[in-house]
Amino acid sequence: MTTPPIKPIKHFLQFSDFTLPEFEYLIERAHLIKRRFKNYELHHPLVDRTLVMVFEKNSTRTRLSFEAGMHQLGGAAIYLNTRDSQLGRGEPVEDAGQVMSRMCDVIMVRTFGQDIIERFAANSRVPVINGLTNEHHPCQVLADVFTFIEHRGSIAGKTVAWIGDANNMLYSWLQAAEVFGFHVNISTPKGYDIDPARVDPGNRRYTVFDNPSDACQGVHLVTTDVWTSMGFETENAVRLAAFDGWIVDGAKMARAAPEALFMHCLPAHRGEEVAAEVIDGPQSVVWDEAENRLHVQKALLEYLVLGRLD
Ligand code: CP
Ligand code: NVA
Repeated sequence: MTTPPIKPIKHFLQFSDFTLPEFEYLIERAHLIKRRFKNYELHHPLVDRTLVMVFEKNSTRTRLSFEAGMHQLGGAAIYLNTRDSQLGRGEPVEDAGQVMSRMCDVIMVRTFGQDIIERFAANSRVPVINGLTNEHHPCQVLADVFTFIEHRGSIAGKTVAWIGDANNMLYSWLQAAEVFGFHVNISTPKGYDIDPARVDPGNRRYTVFDNPSDACQGVHLVTTDVWTSMGFETENAVRLAAFDGWIVDGAKMARAAPEALFMHCLPAHRGEEVAAEVIDGPQSVVWDEAENRLHVQKALLEYLVLGRLD
């Protein structure tokens, strides 16, 4: 008797792990799941399933959206952090992957280097989701693309301005640009530039601008993020000085298309990377972005655990 081939486990470690048809499916499911949630309709496809969430960095939105989302899908979520788990006492990440994946159905990890989550996933029997690493934040960009589509329809052919640090969010945006077929105008201060070695060599979907206002010219979405990401706090004072001029303010938004949206993954620092008039203004969709983490991740959890349901 021949043994059936073992189905490879699907992980979501970076945006490019999924194809356009997979994202189209997820977006369709997220719309449906959101509609049911708003109507208080029970949707319990993950009864008796367990999500383990491993946090090596702080979080509000990611923890809340995964924990509430898993509960709303009929399953359970367990929160672990470095301080309380054996990871904080040096247990190898490979061993943690082996053990956790024998006790649960899906795992979310927020950690430092991308290599850590890759080593974890390589030792996991169940799907692993990237809840943010130094290099990527794919769940947030999935929520952001979904939010754009909700407000403006297809993102294909549109232009997004990225103003600020070349951080994890930017690299996930660049992967999304390749998958969905949109363009990214990037402006970062000197010394904080994008590293082309970290972008797919075939990616022609971005243009670099020295002047942040020029990067906003005619775009459909302006987005930014903190100047100092988690793990880089010792650089904060130097960064504050280096990023002077890169604030997204009313003048920069005025260079964008009249119907342009503003996004920020949050948490934000008003008066640093974004002016209050923008983040609290009529073009801002930051609260929708935050809420949509819940809906897209519920679609993601459902897909990774159960596969396509149509
Ligand atoms: N945007 C985001 O990931 O927020 P948290 O750090 O609060 O999870
Ligand atoms: N770039 C930020 C995103 C926080 C959600 C960070 O990594 O800290």
